[in-house]
Amino acid sequence: MATEEHQRLANIVKNCHDNLRQLTKLYGAERAWQEHTSAQNAAQLKEYAAAMQQLAEIWETNTNNKELQARSRIKWTVDYITKYFYTEGIYLQKRHREQRLLESYEELKAVDCNYMIEPRDTLRVLDVGSCFNPFGNTPHLDVTAIDLCPAPESNVLQADFLYVELDATLTQPEIKDRVVSRLPAGFYECVIFSLLLEYMPSAEQRLLCCQKAYDLLSPEGILVIITPDSQHVGKNASIMKNWRYTLAKLGLLRVRFEKLPHITCLVYRKAISKELAQHWGSLHREHCITEAISIPQDAN
Ligand SMILES: C[S@@+](CC[C@H](N)C(=O)[O-])C[C@H]1O[C@@H](n2cnc3c(N)ncnc32)[C@H](O)[C@@H]1O
Repeated sequence: MATEEHQRLANIVKNCHDNLRQLTKLYGAERAWQEHTSAQNAAQLKEYAAAMQQLAEIWETNTNNKELQARSRIKWTVDYITKYFYTEGIYLQKRHREQRLLESYEELKAVDCNYMIEPRDTLRVLDVGSCFNPFGNTPHLDVTAIDLCPAPESNVLQADFLYVELDATLTQPEIKDRVVSRLPAGFYECVIFSLLLEYMPSAEQRLLCCQKAYDLLSPEGILVIITPDSQHVGKNASIMKNWRYTLAKLGLLRVRFEKLPHITCLVYRKAISKELAQHWGSLHREHCITEAISIPQDAN
């Protein structure tokens, strides 16, 4: 059974999402987003950030309570990053698979490929929609944590990812008064979207986030997406197929899919060649697949 406090916090989070969806129905996603992120709505965003931080603490410490389980997204993400870059060298297995694929596609024989030199001792990670910086204390991760509205006393920087600029000439984020104005493109080994995409009310905004993640990643870097999902594994299969196809079109190939009790954990890798990922997407396109990052709530 969820405690009263858990319920209260969950309601704050849910109300904020509901309000944004209501605004979107009234005005469309763009204007709704402007209103949602305006100074007039600052109090609601702050309340949300504090509630989300407390909820996450409850999830992380209730590992015996099935209903409140942390859906241990933080541990899952750190474990996968470690296996991919270090302990299991998954990046090399995926590189070799892509090289074999490239050789098998006659029409792609001459395309350019980009490789990671080798994983650094400390990986550059961008945690978007971080809220309270859950990955901040991980030893081998150098985390830049950004959020629309950082949780109180977190060391998260302020930025709206939809509007922040990217710049390939930068070698670090451009920050003034704890607000990020520009991020270095092609710089991060890992971008994390943990419970981020569902916050945004339109499929176009989510797609823009994924495009930006692609641009921010260095060759063979990974985008980790954690998405809430309490259904059985097959329920959202068609949505997951759309994501896989859409991200392949951006140049990101899926390397991991894992369903946990209340979340789905996904990892996409910046392929050694964008053309390869796009070609793979075209070859595996089933009829009725659409190029969109939709979520079940869009249907309501
Ligand atoms: C459900 S919370 C997830 C927090 C944390 N990542 C976690 O896994 O517990 C979603 C967060 O994404 C942030 N967010 C949503 N859209 C954003 C955007 N465009 N730019 C930056 N942060 C955003 C929200 O402010 C909120 O803190």
